[in-house]
Amino acid sequence: MCGIIGYLGYREAYPILINGLKKLEYRGYDSSGIAIFYEKGYSLCKTKGRVYDLEKKICLNKIKISGTTGIGHTRWATHGIPNDLNAHPHVSNSNNLIIIHNGIVENYYAIKIVLSKNGFTFKSKTDTEVLVNLIEFVKKENQLSLEEAVRISLNEIVGAYSIAVVDKSHPETIVIAKLGSPLALGINDKEFFIASDPISFIDYTKNALYLKDGEMAILKKGRELDLRKIGDNHKLNPIIEKLKINLKQIEKGKYKYFMLKEIYEQPKTILDTLRGRLLISTKGNEIICINGIESNKDVFINAKCITIVACGTSWHASLIGEYLLEELARIPVEVEYASEFRYRNPILDRRNVIIVISQSGETADTLAALKLAKKKGAFVFGICNVVGSSIARNVDAGVYTHAGPEIGVASTKSFTAQITVLILLALKIGKYRSVINELRYKNLCQELISIPEKVDFVLKTDNSIKKISKEYYNVNNFLYLGRGINFPVALEGALKLKEVSYIHAEGYPAAEMKHGPIALIDSNMPVIIIATKKGFYDKIVGNVQEIKARKGKIISIVNEGDVQVSMLSDHIIKIPIISEELSPLITVIPLQLLAYQIAYIRGENVDQPRNLAKSVTVE
Ligand code: AGP
Ligand code: GLU
Repeated sequence: MCGIIGYLGYREAYPILINGLKKLEYRGYDSSGIAIFYEKGYSLCKTKGRVYDLEKKICLNKIKISGTTGIGHTRWATHGIPNDLNAHPHVSNSNNLIIIHNGIVENYYAIKIVLSKNGFTFKSKTDTEVLVNLIEFVKKENQLSLEEAVRISLNEIVGAYSIAVVDKSHPETIVIAKLGSPLALGINDKEFFIASDPISFIDYTKNALYLKDGEMAILKKGRELDLRKIGDNHKLNPIIEKLKINLKQIEKGKYKYFMLKEIYEQPKTILDTLRGRLLISTKGNEIICINGIESNKDVFINAKCITIVACGTSWHASLIGEYLLEELARIPVEVEYASEFRYRNPILDRRNVIIVISQSGETADTLAALKLAKKKGAFVFGICNVVGSSIARNVDAGVYTHAGPEIGVASTKSFTAQITVLILLALKIGKYRSVINELRYKNLCQELISIPEKVDFVLKTDNSIKKISKEYYNVNNFLYLGRGINFPVALEGALKLKEVSYIHAEGYPAAEMKHGPIALIDSNMPVIIIATKKGFYDKIVGNVQEIKARKGKIISIVNEGDVQVSMLSDHIIKIPIISEELSPLITVIPLQLLAYQIAYIRGENVDQPRNLAKSVTVE
């Protein structure tokens, strides 16, 4: 959660910090703040609200913004409500140390009591203010340098953090450290950029170092980077990487919101996910190449079962993965919420394969689940979007989804990219285990190639979806129904609507409806139903009849040429015919568009829905 940013060099820090914060706002946006340092002093401004509100406050109060060292923060509150006092940066009691922090100090309360007994007072309710005062206490008591005080204090901390700390008397130095929350460092000759996500400094440098857990760096103006282990102060060799981010990918272009842009990007992103992995030779042979699977062929052939672990939308993709892997690779699959799995003492050994799925590659629960599975001896395979993310770096093997940066808080293109990877995986493992029929394999591979074109076709239904949205944008509830592999799509459709429009929505297996949710159906209840021809069509027709009999409003996703369900529906959205195994790639598109259009009509900030953050790096 939250975005941190920093600059140390020879340029004015302010524009770098403000522009960086704007790019980081997808990570947290309930409050923001900056501190700019100049000789023996600093100016600080923080406020509840967006970076835009911060800029306004700085302008209104004529805050001094000149200086070549600075830090900034955009917050996703964990300890204390979003308000001006709880916003970062936080300042120590002596007014000497200034900190920004991403994460949670779990043992903050015990430390706060000790500090209070030693005369410290606290203005905010945050764990972060406790941390900066702990550093001050340790520094004063032992007459230490800032870096040593930070290091010793962090060894007392339980929890997760990425931090940047400055001593106002030495504005030529910033100390940064990381455990559990992401932190990248951009490096140019004579300047350093600090950020939770390198997209915020890519305009200035492509040379980046991703700090690893348990590492800290001492940044000094005009000096070489000093990288150390927090535990024992051991000096480390920095490994600088070249960033490969295309700036166009992080601009909205002609779209009002990133979410819409990302929905519309899907024909291309699905193609990018397939590129180099699904090869059709001139002789018409289909080959699936996934290095992470090929180099671990035996692991997948001999796996006794696969457990897929994820959160949110990635968890919905995992449920689709369960259908695919069981159907095409004939391996038993379990799907777990990472937050439950990590505390369940799961029974695992080396014949268990764990697949972790995460867009950001930073989700705290998924990362913890991964580490637990590895500790218990399981083989861990990752499916991530963000290259170089913590999850990607910690798995035994894995595959990137290559959907490009996803900025909208609500996941869209990363969901279809994850499903694409899962289809390839299921086909590849099915082939290795000789459980998939040649013709079925061939047909599915051929059909996969046609998916981007089909998604493009479905995107053209946007106008009819706008009309439906105008009719229903004011209702309080929605029900989403699907069967088989499209049941998780119903869950995903409901999640999308909840996230961006704040309308209550539930996803249900269509047949399960009569065991409870049917009680909710009346003439005010819109029901979205996924009724694909190659699914359990006749059964779905029965479910639609049940809704109709109770006067529910039926919005159905049907194949072209559909008659029965269409006749019973109040609204229909037509999609091309496709094999059921691949259908989630198509059926989810209208649901994403519907969520977007309804939220847009309601005037919500679609890209930054309230209370959410793009990557959940706290438990
Ligand atoms: C999706 O729209 C969400 N905002 C959220 O559920 C997300 O999918 C979840 O937090 C998992 O994130 P990850 O894929 O980055 O691990
Ligand atoms: N725990 C800190 C707070 O509540 C940091 C939260 C964040 O990562 O934004 O202020």
